[in-house]
Amino acid sequence: MRLRSIVAPLLKWFAKNARDLPWRRTRDPYAVWVSEIMLQQTQVKTVIPYWERWMKRLPDITALANAREDTVIKLWEGLGYYSRVRNMQKAARLIRDEHGGRFPRDLAGVMALPGVGRYTGGAVCSIAFNQSEPIVDGNVIRVLTRVVGIEESPKAKPVLEKIWAFTDDLVKHAVARQQPRQRNASAFNQAMMELGALVCRPRNPLCGGCPLQGRCTARKENKVETIPALAKRAAATKRRFIGFIINWRGKVFVQRRPSGDVNAGFWEFPNWEVSADADAAHLAKANLPLGQAELLCVINHSVTRYRNRLEMFLLRVSRKPRLAKLHGEWVSLAKIDKFPLTAAHRKVAKRL
Ligand code: ADE
Ligand code: SF4
Repeated sequence: MRLRSIVAPLLKWFAKNARDLPWRRTRDPYAVWVSEIMLQQTQVKTVIPYWERWMKRLPDITALANAREDTVIKLWEGLGYYSRVRNMQKAARLIRDEHGGRFPRDLAGVMALPGVGRYTGGAVCSIAFNQSEPIVDGNVIRVLTRVVGIEESPKAKPVLEKIWAFTDDLVKHAVARQQPRQRNASAFNQAMMELGALVCRPRNPLCGGCPLQGRCTARKENKVETIPALAKRAAATKRRFIGFIINWRGKVFVQRRPSGDVNAGFWEFPNWEVSADADAAHLAKANLPLGQAELLCVINHSVTRYRNRLEMFLLRVSRKPRLAKLHGEWVSLAKIDKFPLTAAHRKVAKRL
């Protein structure tokens, strides 16, 4: 297959142009795994100090498995998507308890860990163990749709499957032509991602400096701007929420978001979704004294495709209200800064 001819020039390019990233100096599967989970949501530049801090504080599986949850969350703070770090600690405990502390060495074993999918599993097995497992991320999708000239949206399942199949063939081809002492599965997969990050960028790719320019369909057919096809954006939906800061003797009432929800485990002031034209009827829900609430602020924030409007009312009460239907805690205002609030409610707290 002609596509295989990209392997040699790509590997040659990577040998010269690979960035010297700290996690590229190790083959420790734990260290590679940590870097790959961090890189899923954040740019390389941001990840470097996080990764270095993490590896210093939690140098191996046992350290992570035995760490306090606060320590782990604190090391992750600012990276977002906290379910990922919680899954990492679950995975570490599973490795400690069921694999004798030894990181699994095969794709099925790695993929059985909480929070590890096809991408992360393939990344760990190829980068740490040099196994010929394919990986597909946004960079790989961009490079391959352009080189092959795939005009359909890669968000479509059959198109994405085709990209996985191409990558699978390419990484196996790379390993088949491997010289002793080379690590081509690791190099090939990282080279595809590196080319996507440094050369075959989303906008204004640097085709003139690209090792694949002579083999690239998009470049030949002048379709670099239109490939990969952008998925139709899900239409934004407006939602309206009303919430209360119930202030009783210098304390405010907060509740924890249930597990399984967005921002699970984070805290927020009580709030409800209401229809766009609702009035104060919602207040009855929590048996709060009506009429005394004053509007404190309106926070507009986006979560996935939702454009949320959060109207926050301040309600000072002199007697402790019986919040029959609410489960939460009274927290003194002085301590609210230390509470892990959701991003929107952190903004509210700053207005207090
Ligand atoms: N993005 C995620 N992991 C990467 C890696 N190992 N090399 C380059 N880009 C990446
Ligand atoms: Fe990407 Fe341009 Fe290289 Fe094609 S020639 S792979 S579009 S950078």
